[in-house]
Amino acid sequence: MVSIDRARLKSLMEREQQRFVQERPKSNALFERARKSLLGGVPMNWMAKWAGAFPPFVREAQGAEFFDVDGHRYIDLCLGDTGAMTGHSPSATVSAIEQQIRRGITLMLPSEDAIVVGEELQKRFGLPYWQFALTATDANRFSIRLARQITDRPKILVFNWCYHGTVDETFITLADGVAKARRGNIGPPVDPALTTRVVEFNDLDALDEALSGEDVACVLMEPALTNVGIVLPEPGYHQALREITRKYGTLLVIDETHTICAGPGGYTRAENLEPDFLVFGKPIAGGVPGATYGFTEEVAQCIGARQSLEDCDTGGVGGTLAGNALSLAAMRATLQKVLTKEAFDRMLPMAERWTTGVAKGIADFGLPWNVTRLGCRAEYLFSPTTPKNGTQAHDAMDFELERFMHLYAMNRGILLTPFHNMALMSPVTSKEDIDHHTKTFRDAVKELVA
Ligand SMILES: Cc1ncc(COP(=O)(O)O)c(C=O)c1O
Repeated sequence: MVSIDRARLKSLMEREQQRFVQERPKSNALFERARKSLLGGVPMNWMAKWAGAFPPFVREAQGAEFFDVDGHRYIDLCLGDTGAMTGHSPSATVSAIEQQIRRGITLMLPSEDAIVVGEELQKRFGLPYWQFALTATDANRFSIRLARQITDRPKILVFNWCYHGTVDETFITLADGVAKARRGNIGPPVDPALTTRVVEFNDLDALDEALSGEDVACVLMEPALTNVGIVLPEPGYHQALREITRKYGTLLVIDETHTICAGPGGYTRAENLEPDFLVFGKPIAGGVPGATYGFTEEVAQCIGARQSLEDCDTGGVGGTLAGNALSLAAMRATLQKVLTKEAFDRMLPMAERWTTGVAKGIADFGLPWNVTRLGCRAEYLFSPTTPKNGTQAHDAMDFELERFMHLYAMNRGILLTPFHNMALMSPVTSKEDIDHHTKTFRDAVKELVA
């Protein structure tokens, strides 16, 4: 198999950096201006991670594409890291927002939309009760709090190299089998090893051992890891995991924020999983901030039995703007008219086409890479085999190479996520979009191995 010549990679990267800067004078000027009022020249620290010398500033986005201020068109395979999986500004969501925004945005009172959304979520995911938050991070945090309260247990369990948003308890990784704060963890309130156990995905023995002390309130998991490349569960894994969690009285929180890519009811519905809590955020309102968490009848009863009317606003679950009228109107339209089964029927073949194109590129040029797909999300990894767990996936990451692939794509009008090599399909992503990626990917690897 071919190996990457690092000197060649460096010189190609320099060439691509020059091209990126030369072709984007307006973004460059905006970035220089932004540096005077925004930390690092970006409104949110992650935006510093784009592979160019500065991020392209966006003029407008629509459907599966956007234009930067210099007039470049990009096929958007990042889609706001799933926040815009619906395609940008889907018309049904936009109409609902336009109507609602004139009739009140936030009230601390419910609207009928909340019920319709709750009913829709029941049908999709099979859980009876729902609550709302503004971000998936918050929905995870609230689920964890409730799980701790119900079980009266202090700890949670997550999987190595998981990501569930900025939830303090989850910034933990295994280093040679020892649980430690994740690299880069900013100002942890306590050592996360005090709050959290961490085991490898697909390792049932480790899970059994970690839960056997019966002090773990909940397992928080993505049903397939999606934030360190894609790591799929082995056959029978979920069933055994559920048996183990039940054996030790540990609740199961399934975070479907990314794995909604598996279908309208996420991986949970596609594979008939039985979580106690389910979290879904990001695209639920077409990009308008909103998230939800649902739970079983039994969990609902346990929550109800412990609820205090007097203290319910200061108990650590909620948020002034959570469940606001605007995000619920947007959720209603998005769930009923945008993220539909018909939309998934269009998205899945596009992801298959993307995966086939990348796999052929990898094979034709003899690269030790592989590509994995989960529903309408796909990802290539710099390793010859598909990873079984977070460590294997993380070990295959190559920051330098990743940045080159991203920048090469950006210079040719394609946006991948700034984190790893993920491509997501929207309901309006076209065959031409995919074929342009396939060609660009082939051109990039051809130059790399030349
Ligand atoms: C699986 C998963 N859960 C939760 C989150 C947090 O979402 P947000 O940043 O919108 O709170 C993310 C973000 O990437 C995620 O990937």
